[in-house]
Amino acid sequence: MKRAIFPGTFDPPTFGHLDIIERASRVFDHLYIAVGHNLNKPYDHFTIGERIKFLKMISHDIPNVEIVPFEGLLADFANRINVSTIIRAIRTGAEFEAEAIQASMNWNLGHLETLYMVASNNYRLISSSLVREVAQYGRRLHAFVPEEIEEMVFERLSTTCNKD
Ligand code: COA
Repeated sequence: MKRAIFPGTFDPPTFGHLDIIERASRVFDHLYIAVGHNLNKPYDHFTIGERIKFLKMISHDIPNVEIVPFEGLLADFANRINVSTIIRAIRTGAEFEAEAIQASMNWNLGHLETLYMVASNNYRLISSSLVREVAQYGRRLHAFVPEEIEEMVFERLSTTCNKD
């Protein structure tokens, strides 16, 4: 069975993430969406439980997707669940440079192969931080996050992001 991990912070998940989830789930028999923390980011805006709930809501109709939390190194987590393929999205040329470094590190740490999916045109300019910023200014998020979670994400960000 072909299995892969799509890791990220998903803070919050967007149409861009869903695009990759849908496409990768057609290529692999089983796709783990691994929800973690990026040490380069000061803190997460949504709890791990909230992010898992959002991902479950937006991917509920994709049977071969499993949402899992992870802590520590991605390579260690992947080895623990015996998966050796990572899926990453590429949106821009600049992102490729950073991704290549990460891929090399994940190979060194755990012999993980990284496969890239080019983000679909419509979603190349979305990022979770931009979504958070838009909500902070009171604009609804229907163009950026799936309908199932839009209300919850908007309500939370528009009332708490002003503290950032
Ligand atoms: N469409 C739209 N946006 C996307 C996207 C897509 N297909 N894919 C990613 N993004 C966005 C994310 O929302 C995020 O936006 P933000 O920076 O505004 O919040 C941004 O692109 C970066 O995403 P990503 O590169 O996935 O970073 P991340 O912070 O979401 O996740 C981890 C990074 C958690 C996978 C990584 O830090 C990790 O593996 N950590 C564990 C520790 C470890 O192993 N470190 C060594 C790694 S070599």
